[in-house]
Amino acid sequence: MEEAVNKVIDESRQGEAVVLSSRGEGKKLYIESYGCQMNFSDSEVVASILTKEGFSTTRNVDEADVVLINTCSIRENAETRVRNRLTEFKKKKEDKPEMMVGILGCMAERLKKSLLEEEKLVDLVAGPDAYRDLPNLIEEVGSGQKAVNVLLSRDETYADISPVRMDKGGVSAFVTITRGCDNMCSFCVVPFTRGRERSRDPETIVEECRELFNKGYREVTLLGQNVDSYRWNMTSKGEIKDNSKLTTNFAQLMEMVALVSPDLRIRFSTSHPKDMTDDVLEAMAKYENVCPYIHLPVQSGNSDVLKRMNRGYTREWYLERIAAIRRIVPDCAISTDIITGFCDETDSEHEDTITLMNEVKYDYAYMFKYSERPKTLAERRFEDNVDDGIKSKRITEIIELQTQHSLESNQKQIGTTQKVLIEGKSKRSEEQLCGRTGRNSMVIFPKGEYQKGTYVMVKINDCTSATLFGEVVEEIPPAK
Ligand code: 5AD
Ligand code: SF4
Repeated sequence: MEEAVNKVIDESRQGEAVVLSSRGEGKKLYIESYGCQMNFSDSEVVASILTKEGFSTTRNVDEADVVLINTCSIRENAETRVRNRLTEFKKKKEDKPEMMVGILGCMAERLKKSLLEEEKLVDLVAGPDAYRDLPNLIEEVGSGQKAVNVLLSRDETYADISPVRMDKGGVSAFVTITRGCDNMCSFCVVPFTRGRERSRDPETIVEECRELFNKGYREVTLLGQNVDSYRWNMTSKGEIKDNSKLTTNFAQLMEMVALVSPDLRIRFSTSHPKDMTDDVLEAMAKYENVCPYIHLPVQSGNSDVLKRMNRGYTREWYLERIAAIRRIVPDCAISTDIITGFCDETDSEHEDTITLMNEVKYDYAYMFKYSERPKTLAERRFEDNVDDGIKSKRITEIIELQTQHSLESNQKQIGTTQKVLIEGKSKRSEEQLCGRTGRNSMVIFPKGEYQKGTYVMVKINDCTSATLFGEVVEEIPPAK
């Protein structure tokens, strides 16, 4: 989920936003994003804020006046990758000193002073809640100063900003519903870098989804660090004191978005095992357009490790939630996150993760070696004492097991017919298209006359552990 991927805002979006100020007139902006989906989504908010100032976006870093890197701190290697990139930009600046380089996101929050003052790698630092201030910060740098704003907010949700989408003519878009996190999992730096949790006004979320649908998008992914704790009440606007009738929870929000159109697929990420209620599962079961797929990070299969991780649930609780998914949304695909080699993890605790994986048989998993992060509860309370060789051995075992489970999961799809939303050409061949099933499996099939953004029924006839292969047996006309 978190693997760094460079994504650059599409140049063809120039001029799409209304220019409200001319501070960026004639200037070109280049943004690169690393880390989680939330960062990619935030980069679209940043592009929106700056195009309104007159900036145009570019895919080519060499013609950029302003280079912004949206960064991730979740594991040490994510930060290392960004640092290497910043060093490359520093070299570029030797030939082009007027080029401004700034960092956004989690590293900005965590490393502000050191990147700006000690290592002199950047001119500008803006934390996740400071993006509205970017035009001013860029102006400050233009007048010869270094600029920084890493203030975290209790209520910034960028609710009114319509993000500039990365891929024009796209099919699938992210829509942020909550920001920040209050959970304090002991291994996690996010509560420190992204601040307190806050939910976004549901009406602005529904409106954004409707606009996306009208522009041709056919899938939205509702994003939050813990979507299940989404809660909006009118007191958030300061209008009315708490009253359950005036409260919107995640299950209700999901229904509101599902009703935008039966042709708009709904996905969401990330669910939290301690907060995921049956209401949410029932809303999923009720609407055909809510995809039967849940990402439910377990982190470990051992209750003592979960306690040290401060996850707020036990192995038994987690397995009961899995049973609830199977009961209420039969055939729902389930993926997870697993951390291996957390502080004091013994062989037998690791073995519990293996037995849990065998019990759940995840369709997909993101697997990480524990990486100690400064300031976290784990850093303060425990020792990162599992030898790296043991972490590597354990993660190899986990990855091999998961690959086997993913293959079995895909093999079960052979012979079935699945509704697929076409995303575009397959990367491997011009003659093939690719799209996803509701269960989030990638399917490749011959292109025929089928169009991106439409639904087709595909009969699955082969697979690998990562991909399904099939052929279209029926086109599905748009819903009335
Ligand atoms: N070390 C390793 N993995 C981590 N994650 C979060 N913090 C750490 C860390 N310090 C993983 C968790 C989380 C996912 C987004 O990243 O599995 O669910
Ligand atoms: Fe980090 Fe836990 Fe919050 Fe996820 S729920 S962002 S792992 S603190």
